[in-house]
Amino acid sequence: MSITVTPLSAACGAEISGIDLREPLDASTVKEIEDAFHEHVVVVFRGQDITEEEQMAFANAFGGLGERRRSPNGNTPGGSYDTPFMFVTNIIDEKTGEPIGAFGDGEMWFHHDTSYYEKPHKATLLYSITLPNSGGNTCFANMYKAYENVPADLKAKLEGRKVLQLHDYKRRERIDIYNSDISGMLQYEQPIFVTHPVTRRKALYISRLMSAKIEGLAPDENEAILNQLFDISEDPSVVFEHVWKKGDMVMWDNYASIHMRRDFPRDQPRLMRRLTLGGYGALN
Ligand SMILES: [Fe+2]
Repeated sequence: MSITVTPLSAACGAEISGIDLREPLDASTVKEIEDAFHEHVVVVFRGQDITEEEQMAFANAFGGLGERRRSPNGNTPGGSYDTPFMFVTNIIDEKTGEPIGAFGDGEMWFHHDTSYYEKPHKATLLYSITLPNSGGNTCFANMYKAYENVPADLKAKLEGRKVLQLHDYKRRERIDIYNSDISGMLQYEQPIFVTHPVTRRKALYISRLMSAKIEGLAPDENEAILNQLFDISEDPSVVFEHVWKKGDMVMWDNYASIHMRRDFPRDQPRLMRRLTLGGYGALN
């Protein structure tokens, strides 16, 4: 099998064509996809028609699946935890009236997946099943480029510091850590700058949704510096916006990128099937 890799933007992202994800992959194809994944940060496969088993088999070619954890405070989203899949959807189960998955409607701010775990998952594989007529695009920011855009004096100030990554299943609001009980929320202190274990490139590791508190900074300075870093990380020059089509499978490097979802009409169903790959270990 020989694949074709076509870059999709100056920021990041590439389409991989010439492959049917239902078929088993040979070692050289896995290597080609891995190389494209590491170079372009986000890879897009279009026109796919895959079952859960096929999505899992494809994911397993690149590593073991990521484990999902419940939040200690019980604010865990809907859907079963007996499966590695998470449904990212606004669909409600008619019988129970409960959501069948997570992160229902509307915009969702930039974040890494599982940055609040000790060992964040290395990749996410999101497959589109049902889409609204408009909106719901996913934007990816290349955090290698964001790191390069951090001013030298700020880099020097932040080098070696950690940032608290915190998640309480919000979609578009920062948690006021100075006036909230965060003890039951999923959280972990991560380096602000990380070195990707495969590419050995440095990446900025913050996000507007989940990064709460930089080690050693007073509240005012913390907010000012985080806001400066959020703006750098979301600058349009480092962002690729993916417009979904049914049957797209997108796999992104969760160490080297953050992602956000744009708003979409609330009366239209959107259903995406998500898997993650376990991490390389603790970040550094
Ligand atoms: Fe996400």
